[in-house]
Amino acid sequence: MTYLKITDLQKHYDSYHALRGINLSITEGEFVVFVGPSGCGKSTLLRTIAGLESSNGGTIELDGRDITELASSKRDLAMVFQSYALYPHMTVADNLSFALRLAKIPDAEIQEKVRSVSASLQLDPLLERKPKELSGGQRQRVAIGRAIVRQPKVFLFDEPLSNLDAALRVQMRLELARLHKKLGTTMVYVTHDQVEAMTLADRVVILNAGQIEQVGTPLELYRKPNSRFVAEFIGTPKMNLIPADKITHKEDEFIFDLFGHTIHFPANRIKGEQPDSVIVGIRPEHLSLVAENGDLTGRIELVEHLGSEAYAHIQLQNDQTIIVKAGARTELKDGQEVHINVDVQEIILFNNKDQVISVIPEEA
Ligand SMILES: Nc1ncnc2c1ncn2[C@@H]1O[C@H](COP(=O)(O)OP(=O)(O)O)[C@@H](O)[C@H]1O
Ligand SMILES: [Mg+2]
Repeated sequence: MTYLKITDLQKHYDSYHALRGINLSITEGEFVVFVGPSGCGKSTLLRTIAGLESSNGGTIELDGRDITELASSKRDLAMVFQSYALYPHMTVADNLSFALRLAKIPDAEIQEKVRSVSASLQLDPLLERKPKELSGGQRQRVAIGRAIVRQPKVFLFDEPLSNLDAALRVQMRLELARLHKKLGTTMVYVTHDQVEAMTLADRVVILNAGQIEQVGTPLELYRKPNSRFVAEFIGTPKMNLIPADKITHKEDEFIFDLFGHTIHFPANRIKGEQPDSVIVGIRPEHLSLVAENGDLTGRIELVEHLGSEAYAHIQLQNDQTIIVKAGARTELKDGQEVHINVDVQEIILFNNKDQVISVIPEEA
């Protein structure tokens, strides 16, 4: 059942149209992540939901109530920012209990809530410290704890891990996933990091220039992007995009030419009219290096060894570089000529307007 419902939400900053008609329904208990490039409107959308920004059209409903015009403090939401925004002169314990004291909650109840949150976030040894005596990760844990004690209907996170170093970010990401499992509270989380989005989200909302580009589970977005924007945004390394020309049609096959090699694509996987030219999208793991007779040939530019796998950057005839996932122990030499096979089943075709025109087959 819909819990948080956003309908045709608009936001203008003077002449800048920052949110261009956002429609989104979030279910109770869901972990939804807003992701997109810098400036696409993620924070604006989150802050508008929180009531920290006013909207210029549309509605926000929470748990059956229209909260569009409601003051931020009355919305039953708790927000955690990238900057921890702790009270510097208060101890961790006082930071945790502040909102509850303000709300005149009885002392015994406050103590019980703080104790429970402190235990679940491993803050017990830090309760008497001031924020300046904490590491970045510990500060962010306190900021999250401060949101939890209020038992909000929805948690709103705006890039909460961006200030942490890479290792801590991965650790905190896991802690957040565990916390969500344990609390079961609805969470809306903003990040520019698609790996964070993929690993945390039940559903990912991809934003582009103030509009929703696509909504789906991480795997739906990875396997079935609607547009080139989504296809390129999700997945590291990125999907390879290769222009293909000299196309011929047959009744049941759509045949295109990749630098002299013909690729036969089932015609029933093309949506609508068959186009005159396409861009072939193929992920690095759906290309493989073969000894001879590949679908493509190219020259090794460089190989990135990640330990468990390697990525070969290969220059094609048109000087374009594509990335092929290779085995961990691959011994490719720079400049070496290689042959590449394309897993046609996994190809995604785009038209010249960057829209996907092929249907991705269901996995067997
Ligand atoms: N207070 C503001 N006044 C004017 N423009 C703003 C304001 N806040 C954000 N913007 C603009 O709105 C767009 C979206 O900003 P924001 O939501 O912060 O992006 P994101 O969080 O996705 O990086 C940006 O182009 C930004 O410059
Ligand atoms: Mg932002």
